[in-house]
Amino acid sequence: MSSDAPEQPSTNQTEEPNVTPWTVSGEVNYDKLVNDFGSALIEPELLERIAKVTNKGAHHFLKRKIFYSHRDVNQLLDAYEVGRPFYLYTGRGPSSDSMHLGHLVPFMFTKYLQEAFNVPLVIQITDDEKFLWKNLSLEEVRKMAIENIKDIIACGFNEDNTFIFSDLDYIGHLYPTILKIEKATTASQAIGIFGFRKEDNIGKYSFPAIQAAPSFYSSFPHIFAEYEKKDLERKQKEAGQQKSSKKKSKVQNNVADNESTKADIFCLIPCAIDQDPYFRMTRDVAPRLQFQKPALLHSKFFPALQGSRTKMSSSDPNSGVFLTDTPKQIKDKINKHAFSGGQTTKELQEELGANLEVDVSYLYLTFFMEDDEELERIRVAYSTGKMLTGEIKKILIEVLQKIVKQHQERRALVTDEMVKKFMTPRAMDHLVPKESKPTPVKPLEPATQTNKQ
Ligand code: TRP
Repeated sequence: MSSDAPEQPSTNQTEEPNVTPWTVSGEVNYDKLVNDFGSALIEPELLERIAKVTNKGAHHFLKRKIFYSHRDVNQLLDAYEVGRPFYLYTGRGPSSDSMHLGHLVPFMFTKYLQEAFNVPLVIQITDDEKFLWKNLSLEEVRKMAIENIKDIIACGFNEDNTFIFSDLDYIGHLYPTILKIEKATTASQAIGIFGFRKEDNIGKYSFPAIQAAPSFYSSFPHIFAEYEKKDLERKQKEAGQQKSSKKKSKVQNNVADNESTKADIFCLIPCAIDQDPYFRMTRDVAPRLQFQKPALLHSKFFPALQGSRTKMSSSDPNSGVFLTDTPKQIKDKINKHAFSGGQTTKELQEELGANLEVDVSYLYLTFFMEDDEELERIRVAYSTGKMLTGEIKKILIEVLQKIVKQHQERRALVTDEMVKKFMTPRAMDHLVPKESKPTPVKPLEPATQTNKQ
């Protein structure tokens, strides 16, 4: 059993855990997911490397292993360090008007990455996905998409280098890339990865290609066309020089080996780990389409108030704190519904302390209390019984009320004009990295070539 999973027997213990992009149920064993999916744990070395390369401390989501798994981030950093650009890609399926705190997690992290690396960011709004999977009309998903986009903009993304698109609007631009992905993927492969059944609608079968497409820069000619030209010139030049030179870096090697006709534009996708199947498929087809495989950073799920077993659900108002909740609603929800790992009486709590692994208030603080020292003080006090459940809940209530209030204030300032701007396909020329990116911390050495992460 994973060290992240609660040790206590749970009432529902026999339920088989199931993690797909559409359902998460049962006791999620995060270490096992990494094994099953074939990704890699984020080791302390990678954490240090990210902090060094970006000249910014690692985000607390990384330090606290909330983002805990990855694919190929070392290769992405190798490329970044020699001046190759990358872009960030993330997304949201709009299934309710109001987002909850858990939905903020990937966007808060993406914002940190965007600032740390100063790269373009594309955000896909999969209104089509929700239409196909849920009992919602196109009008409903369109409306939810706009409401959700306002919440996303309120997270503070940089207007100059963020492009937000709804599939329903932007699909024509994606279509050439989607077609190539569809042609390279058989129905058996899709069934193998996603477990589709014969009675599923055929939209579902083709949707994975739609979520995969933004991982390839060809989906965004307005952002990358200029850079692509320059990069292809560079590659040709390098290929010429290569013949006369024995010393090759890994990146140069790749270029020479596959004689690619595509530019080297990398993509990094921060997402919750349940989205990984989409990107396993994407990474499978990438070499055949001559694109770089996207790199990934995976997060754990944000637990429901009722316990760490599942992610929060938009359809159950008591399962989590919503971004539209009032201070009083937040207070009542935490006091009434936040599952406690504390003991049943004050005396027992003082004697035994709380079980932090299942305590939702503590878990929520690991997501939203940035101050490491204060969190550590709470951890020690609560787990040794010097702090009672009522006290940790009071601290959490204040932290969440503040975050939600700030979010609501920022969201009130998001105008339709701004939405339009973020959603307009446009060039991001100035974002093309300068010739000299941050000086490599250490030169690319042959050792990095065998790095399996
Ligand atoms: N399928 C995701 C959801 O239901 C939305 C999504 C699209 C996404 N592209 C993504 C999430 C890329 C993370 C990364 O919310």
